[in-house]
Amino acid sequence: MMRMSLLVFLLIAGASALDAAATPSEGIVGKWLPIKNITDTHVQDLGRWAVVKHTWVSNDGLRFSKVVSGEMQIIEYGINYQLKVQTLLLNGKDAMNTTKVFEQDSPTSTTRKLLSFGPAN
Ligand SMILES: *[C@@H]1O[C@H](CO)[C@@H](O)[C@H](O)[C@H]1NC(C)=O
Ligand SMILES: *[C@@H]1O[C@H](CO)[C@@H](O)[C@H](O)[C@H]1NC(C)=O
Repeated sequence: MMRMSLLVFLLIAGASALDAAATPSEGIVGKWLPIKNITDTHVQDLGRWAVVKHTWVSNDGLRFSKVVSGEMQIIEYGINYQLKVQTLLLNGKDAMNTTKVFEQDSPTSTTRKLLSFGPAN
C-alpha cells in the first residue's frame, strides 16, 4: 500500500485534486486522473508490457515505441490505466493504439491484466 501510494503520488503530482493534500486521499478514488509524468519508467513499462502481451496473443508483429499520454483510475484493489501508445507496424510505419491495463500491486507481487487493446480513437 505504501508503494502504491508513492507511485500514485509521483504519477499524478501536480493534479489539482492533490493541491491541498500530501498523499492521495479518498476524494480521488474512482476518478480518472491524467498521468502527469508520461515519461515515468513505470508508465512506459506498462505500455511496453501491453504491446508485448497483445502481440503474443494476436501475432500481428506490432512493436512498442512509447506511451504518449494516459489516465489512471485508482480503485479499491488496484489501478486501471488507459494509455495512448505509439507503436510500430510490421511495415515499419508508426501507428497509434490505445490500451487499458489493470495493475494490482502488493509488497510481494504485481498482477497485471490486459483489459483492451485497439486503435486510438
Ligand atoms: C519523470 O519521470 C522520469 C523517468 O522516471 C524522471 O527522470 C523525471 O525526473 C520525472 N519528472 C518529474 C517532473 O517527476
Ligand atoms: C493499432 O493502430 C493501427 C493504426 O491506427 C491500426 O491499424 C491497428 O489495427 C491497431 N491495432 C489494433 C490491435 O487495434
